[in-house]
Amino acid sequence: MPLSDPQTQNGPRHVAIIMDGNGRWAQMRGRPRLFGHHAGARRVREIVEACPDLGVKYLTIFAFSTENWKRTQTEVAGLMSLFRRYIQRESRDLFQRGVRVRFIGDRIRLDDKLVTLMDELELLTAGNDRVHLTIALNYGGRDEVTRAAKRLALEIEKGRLSHKDVDAETLSRFLDTHVLPDPDLVIRTSGEARISNFLLWQSAYAEYIFVDTLWPDFTAAEFARVLAEYGVRDRRFGAVKA
Ligand code: FPP
Repeated sequence: MPLSDPQTQNGPRHVAIIMDGNGRWAQMRGRPRLFGHHAGARRVREIVEACPDLGVKYLTIFAFSTENWKRTQTEVAGLMSLFRRYIQRESRDLFQRGVRVRFIGDRIRLDDKLVTLMDELELLTAGNDRVHLTIALNYGGRDEVTRAAKRLALEIEKGRLSHKDVDAETLSRFLDTHVLPDPDLVIRTSGEARISNFLLWQSAYAEYIFVDTLWPDFTAAEFARVLAEYGVRDRRFGAVKA
């Protein structure tokens, strides 16, 4: 994919979402944090289903960061079990709805059973093209760029590339996202206005929209409103309007 492949119509082709606020949502109901993550998973389904009608071809969601391992053992184990169950439960439906699923992030720290399920889902949906859902799991932008730089360095060491070949386009071919266009829009829920190491390289020219809604309350209707807000933004990619 070319580095910047901007959307020419009004709607974003690639939307990335930082799904924040599950913990607070649960806390407000006097329930454990995992209760919020389960509610969050149900919202994932609704938002994925809304994509075709809203013209969103690529959806990338931040499910677990390289920093999330710092959470309690109970929460981490609960999230990993939720991801396994989500894949087991949703695979057939995702396949039938024409969703192609990919995972980005470093799989090295994930348990074998989860990695097998991820591989199987990627394989099952490899022929789909209606919506491209990318799930970031044990993902960090800095970690991704570091792993890409390492692989690039190895290619140079083996003599398959020269340092003269190294430019932004070449480096981007080693990123986990190499087959995806850059995101046009990054949404973060829950009122926090930071990017938390998500798609650092790829979001260079993305629009950001921060909403106060906690992720488990983020409906398809609100998603549509956010996309409409994006539609009136003026994207210049560093250039000046003619
Ligand atoms: C951030 O909210 C959310 C996460 C770290 C996990 C995101 C996971 C899901 C939405 C679960 C389902 C995902 C899939 C792909 C099945 P937080 O826990 O940091 O919330 P807080 O800021 O209110 O504490």
